[in-house]
Amino acid sequence: VKVAALIPAAGSGTRLGLGPKAFVPVEGRTLLGRSAAALAPHVHEVLIALPAGLDLPGDVPGRAVVGGDTRQASVLALLRATDADVVLIHDAARPFLPSRVIRDLLAAVQDTGAATAAMPVADTLVRADPAGDWGTLTPREGLWAVQTPQAFRRAALIAAHEAALADGHAATDDAGLIARAGQPVALVPGDARLLKVTTPGDLLIAQALARVWDA
Ligand code: CTP
Ligand code: MG
Repeated sequence: VKVAALIPAAGSGTRLGLGPKAFVPVEGRTLLGRSAAALAPHVHEVLIALPAGLDLPGDVPGRAVVGGDTRQASVLALLRATDADVVLIHDAARPFLPSRVIRDLLAAVQDTGAATAAMPVADTLVRADPAGDWGTLTPREGLWAVQTPQAFRRAALIAAHEAALADGHAATDDAGLIARAGQPVALVPGDARLLKVTTPGDLLIAQALARVWDA
């Protein structure tokens, strides 16, 4: 079984505000470099979607593909650039990726065909009313927050992507596309350290975490 890691890294990092986010360093190593290095020992190849005109830094293991205007388009470009049987899709923006999560996903995908890292929700959840105040309490029991990595049989995911493209369906998540196609997705326990660096506040947390992670 050939396994490829596909890393969407073609975003512009608007909310962080420091240029293309994958190239932002955390304690001396870029978000992309950290993500790619975590995946490389577990797979046969690493493919990375980059913004047009940017090259892969020399210290990042992998092969570059030009990304698209959306994450969904970048993932489809990556899927079309590999012949692997199984793909592990992981956001460059989640730099702290434990090996245990990768191993569990690769085991789960053998059984189910699709699997995602996810965490049980710990906060109380409420839907705001139209004024922006407390509206309806949503019981958190049984609710999971979805992370990456996510593992799929490539043929099933490419079919789900092409169906979404044909329907004009916009997705933020690949596992959601598989579910939309009526196929099961296993929920594998993720890790609190898999936070997505989205805002300047997240970058502060990532800098603190990097000191522990790298020690
Ligand atoms: N991504 C991508 N191609 C795009 C948009 C996003 O490959 N056209 C990637 C990002 O590089 C990131 C992941 O998808 O690794 C998750 O996206 P997000 O956190 O939203 O990153 P950005 O789109 O770069 O950030 P922002 O939305 O703040 O501009
Ligand atoms: Mg984005």
